[in-house]
Parts: sequence; structure tokens; C-alpha cells
Amino acid sequence: MSVLTINKLTESVGAEVLGVDSDRLASDDALGAAVLHALEDNGVLVFPGLGLNPEAQVAFCGRLGEIDHSSDGHHRVAGIYPVTLDKSKNASADYLRATFDWHIDGCTPVGDTVPQMATVLSAKHVAQSGGETEFANSYAAYDALSDAEKKRYGSLRVVHSLEASQRRVTPDPAPEVLAKWRSRRTHTHPLVWTHRSGRKSLVLGASADYVVGLDREEGTALLAELLDRATLPGRVYSHTWSVGDTVIWDNRGVLHRAAPYDPDSPREMLRTTVLGDEPIR
Ligand SMILES: [Fe+2]
Repeated sequence: MSVLTINKLTESVGAEVLGVDSDRLASDDALGAAVLHALEDNGVLVFPGLGLNPEAQVAFCGRLGEIDHSSDGHHRVAGIYPVTLDKSKNASADYLRATFDWHIDGCTPVGDTVPQMATVLSAKHVAQSGGETEFANSYAAYDALSDAEKKRYGSLRVVHSLEASQRRVTPDPAPEVLAKWRSRRTHTHPLVWTHRSGRKSLVLGASADYVVGLDREEGTALLAELLDRATLPGRVYSHTWSVGDTVIWDNRGVLHRAAPYDPDSPREMLRTTVLGDEPIR
């Protein structure tokens, strides 16, 4: 029997985990494996009102895998990164505006790292309105394709760039801003990711710039259509945050975005990222 009590939130993505408290998450060895298993099955796990403190969050994430420390220095606890539009708390707040578009974390890393395996967010302050986090299952997006589409798209490759995601929110960048975006190298990923598990998912989202070998417009239209289908309202779980909620999602099989909120709102999420070890191929 599973050590977790799981309630599915929608048919294709998301489940609520009940009956665990933050002490157990930070200290129970058996929970790490159970959470990873439930995450693979559900894409997103919601722990309502968990009240996980930053140290316990990092301890819990350490049970899931290796923690990403590349964004350390913005919070007193190593492994915690504050997600907020408040520039006094996060000097890179402008970049976060791109998170209002559907994306997969880690498609355009600085070096050659593979996408983060999981992202954990805990709500410290919430927006008065808006600011939900929305999720869609990218395995289900592949599974919903027709056989002909699966065949046709199986060999396509897509170029992803930081510029593509940033241009959606800043279409007219100053030359120095553009130069900074372009200093981040682009990454070419297959449209269909064949995972070690044998499952397949679509690699879509804001960082997807163009399809290799297709006419630019045709490729853009295809990416937009596939993203639209993947994120139809019936296929999305939207999490409305309460202070103390913790949500974890699996970047290998989930697209996500934040719903817009007032930039002056106090919304602040504490993020910890668990590194991945599975390249997109
Ligand atoms: Fe993200």
C-alpha cells in the first residue's frame, strides 16, 4: 500500500496529497520514493496548507534528488529562490514575466544541463486576485495525437531560445537587452521526447522558437496549434494558492504557467528545484 493518500484533481494532471505533515516530509525516508512515484503518475502534487518552512523544503527536496544551487544568493537559505515580481526581493523580477506563458522549465539552460526534474513552490504570500499556477500534462498531449500525427511529428526538431520566451513579453527590446538574451545559446530539442520510461511527451512552450526544416510560419503555426490543444481548458489543472500550500511538478511531463497578477501584489513563492538526469531525446 502506498504511504501517501492521493486524490486526483483532474483526469489528466494533478493530485492532492493528504495526511502528510511537514515534519514527516522532511524526515521520513520512505516518503521520497513515494512522492517520486506519485509525481510520475500525476505530474503535479498539491500539499494543501502544509506550512513547510524553507529549511524543511530544502531537506524534503534533497530526498527527491540533487538540489539546484545555481540561483542561490537571493534568499538566506541555500536552495531557496524567491519567485516574486517585487524587485526589492528579486533583482531578476523582469525575467519572470515570461512565466505567464506556458513553458517547461530548463529548456534553454546556460550550459548543457538537462531540464530540472522537479520544481517545488511554497506560497509565502499570495496575490489578492490572479496568480494561480496552471498545469497541463505533456504526455497526455502526445497521447492525444492521431497516429498519423505521431508519425509525422516524431522526427521534427525544434530550436528553443531564451529570446523566444522573452520576446513574447518584451517584443521590442533595447539592443543591449537583445544582446544579453542572445548571449544565451539556443538548444535544439526533438518535438517528441522519448523518455527512459518509454513514455512520450511533447516538448512545447514559450521557449520553442521554430521548427527545423519547416517554413518559419508553418512551423510557428504548428507549435501554436499543438500548444493550444495541449492546454485546452479541460486538460488544465489551475491551482489557486493559499498561504502555506506546497506544489511540486515534474518538468519531464508537465507544462506550466502563472496566471497574471498585479505586479504590486505581495505574491511571493519560495522555489526549490531538483536537478534532472534525463536529456530530452
Ligand atoms: Fe517555470
